[in-house]
Amino acid sequence: MPKGGLEPPRAFAHYALNVARLPIPPLRQGGRIISRAAGGRGSLPAAGMMLLPEGATMSELMLITGGNGLLGTKLIELCLRSSAARPVSASRQPCSNRFLGKFDFHQVDVTDSNAVGQLLREVRPEWVVHTAAMTDVDGCERQPEAAWQANVVGAAMVAAACKAVGAHLVHLSTEYVFDGRQGPYGEDDPTNPISVYGRSKLASERAVQERCPGAAIARTTVLYGHEPNVGPNFVTWLIGQLRAGQPVRLVDDQIGSPTLADNLAEMCLALALGRACGVYHTVGAERLDRFAFGRLIAEVFDLDPSHLQPVSTASLNQAAPRPLRAGLKVDKLRRDFPAVPVLGAHEGLEVLRRQLEE
Ligand SMILES: NC(=O)c1ccc[n+]([C@@H]2O[C@H](COP(=O)([O-])OP(=O)(O)OC[C@H]3O[C@@H](n4cnc5c(N)ncnc54)[C@H](OP(=O)(O)O)[C@@H]3O)[C@@H](O)[C@H]2O)c1
Repeated sequence: MPKGGLEPPRAFAHYALNVARLPIPPLRQGGRIISRAAGGRGSLPAAGMMLLPEGATMSELMLITGGNGLLGTKLIELCLRSSAARPVSASRQPCSNRFLGKFDFHQVDVTDSNAVGQLLREVRPEWVVHTAAMTDVDGCERQPEAAWQANVVGAAMVAAACKAVGAHLVHLSTEYVFDGRQGPYGEDDPTNPISVYGRSKLASERAVQERCPGAAIARTTVLYGHEPNVGPNFVTWLIGQLRAGQPVRLVDDQIGSPTLADNLAEMCLALALGRACGVYHTVGAERLDRFAFGRLIAEVFDLDPSHLQPVSTASLNQAAPRPLRAGLKVDKLRRDFPAVPVLGAHEGLEVLRRQLEE
């Protein structure tokens, strides 16, 4: 495992040298001119009550890549509920969330430059939120080439296509761009990823910034939430284990910022409508280690915490190293978007509990 610096694993070397020269999808340069003044920043009302920025109408389109995933599904749902934008979903597999309502769907692999170019030319979105990624951290470690393709090449394709048609891009990245020695981290703290996933996402940030300089980069972590079409995440998995009376080992030396996916969707929507530029940390308000988070989950869901056993990260022998003292600061998001809620862990879990009871 390579440590420190930005040099990619051996399998990444070829790509890393060529990030700046990845082919631009065949799009008409210049694209549509955004007539609306950059507005809305800092003035958006709270979640679920998003008012349209001046001049915007429901007919304006937001393209959501990775629309079948957890965040993608929440974003489609939020757009439909808030009427802030008309969602268009794009994902690699056939649409998995038709139950949300009426929206267009395109089956597209974001690493295919021709397909991405054609998609953006066809849809002509006002905004793009790029959530598509290879998100299995240990899987990335075992398959670095696949991780690079999905996370870096995919982001580069989407960014170039956004620039060409004048769409505002919000790109999803991760807390794993940091090494976890001195968290919580601010947006300007030095990065130093320690896993293939973290390296690929940092490279994706750079590919996006090079190709679409006006883009926003939303770093997040420990995402949780419920949607019937997506697989379990830490919280829904743990609830299942505790309900089944299974003993669960949880690490007590890995600190992060648990983030309710619904809340992250609100943050991403605000960044898009506000045409934010640069890096934003978009996470929940609290830092917790996994064991402490597990105990809180047991409390909120009225489950027996005695099944939880604290262990060290090292004892799990996971393929990818994890940043330990991590977590992200959200001061910048709060300053620029004061109306966007930043939920604490307890608040987020309460929202999830109510959703699961419905
Ligand atoms: N989950 C976390 O804790 C976490 C933490 C930090 C950052 N993030 C970032 O946040 C974003 C959203 O995460 P998430 O948990 O919502 O992810 P997710 O549930 O794993 O969804 C990602 C989606 O990306 C799609 N996808 C993957 N490769 C693709 C490709 N080549 N072309 C088109 N679509 C592709 C997949 O679509 P199909 O199902 O159609 O194949 C998948 O549904 C990601 O960028 C991730 O890196 C997540």
